[in-house]
Amino acid sequence: MKLSSFITLSFYGIKEILFKKHKPILGTVILTDKCNLHCKHCAVNNITGELYPYEQLQKEMKQLYERGVRILFFCGGETFLWEDKGKKVRDLVKEARQIGFLIINIVTNGTFPIDVPEADLILLSLDGDREHHNEIRGDVFDVIIENAEHATKDNIIFYMAVNQLNKNMIGKVGEITVNTKNVRAVSFNFHTPYPGTEGLSLSVDEKEKCCEDIKELMKQKVPVFNLRSAFPYLIHNSFPTPCEQCVVVEKGKIFCCGRCIEVQGLCERCGYFFAAEYALIFRCHFRVIFDMLRTYLKFIR
Ligand SMILES: C[S@@+](CC[C@H](N)C(=O)[O-])C[C@H]1O[C@@H](n2cnc3c(N)ncnc32)[C@H](O)[C@@H]1O
Ligand code: SF4
Ligand code: SF4
Repeated sequence: MKLSSFITLSFYGIKEILFKKHKPILGTVILTDKCNLHCKHCAVNNITGELYPYEQLQKEMKQLYERGVRILFFCGGETFLWEDKGKKVRDLVKEARQIGFLIINIVTNGTFPIDVPEADLILLSLDGDREHHNEIRGDVFDVIIENAEHATKDNIIFYMAVNQLNKNMIGKVGEITVNTKNVRAVSFNFHTPYPGTEGLSLSVDEKEKCCEDIKELMKQKVPVFNLRSAFPYLIHNSFPTPCEQCVVVEKGKIFCCGRCIEVQGLCERCGYFFAAEYALIFRCHFRVIFDMLRTYLKFIR
């Protein structure tokens, strides 16, 4: 993140909090639900297998910007599978920059070569050591580490979804983070129990233990891109939901917070750290605001 973007975003946030405008700041555009993997914890892959049209995605980016979104994520399905009219995800990142978004991130499973130096962050999913990652995602651990190390910029953050299968892997993922070239940090989420994946949920005690493990990484100075002040709210699912400052758009439809808002009862069991962090920040939780400033400042380049 650049210092100028950070300052602009901070002013934007202060205005939002003071005037309680409830405008979104963080938006996600879904490029496709097509995916080359079928991970055990995922319920959003290969429902239609469509790659969404380029013009539609262009329109959605502009719509989000006009609504106030300044932090943009591209997500899927698998984002690096998306293509239309000769365009790929890298072209969308460049276009988003021209529209005026301040921070532009991509979420990927890392199985394709990574060459998007224009993106602020590439969130590359890593769910454990070789054995655990492959158990959840198929035999792709070696290829994703290879792709990370050959990326054209050091803008990668490992992104771990912690569930019953990999709950003891937090320390190991921290170790891989510091030992992999081009990786700046690691960020965690807890499993969100979409229908069919409820068996992978963590109990309150298990989430508490995971947060202790994440704090231990922080103590060891492993760069962790999460806010520890939000942990108690995540453990007990006591943060306000949905997060009004987050939006997702897929196939022209805009969802407040996430597509998951349509699954009844899911918000009360939400494991997404961003939803908790942004909801708490914009409800004026000063400890979380201070924590955000401290954490984000570390990532300014
Ligand atoms: C849906 S994937 C799309 C992007 C890309 N295919 C990938 O795997 O990174 C985005 C992120 O959501 C995570 N995820 C999938 N299902 C989840 C669930 N039920 N709870 C929490 N995170 C989940 C994935 O592990 C991944 O990090
Ligand atoms: S790679 Fe991503 S979209 Fe594909 S199945 Fe796994 S988590 Fe879901
Ligand atoms: S489960 Fe609810 S609170 Fe969590 S990300 Fe989805 S919509 Fe937001």
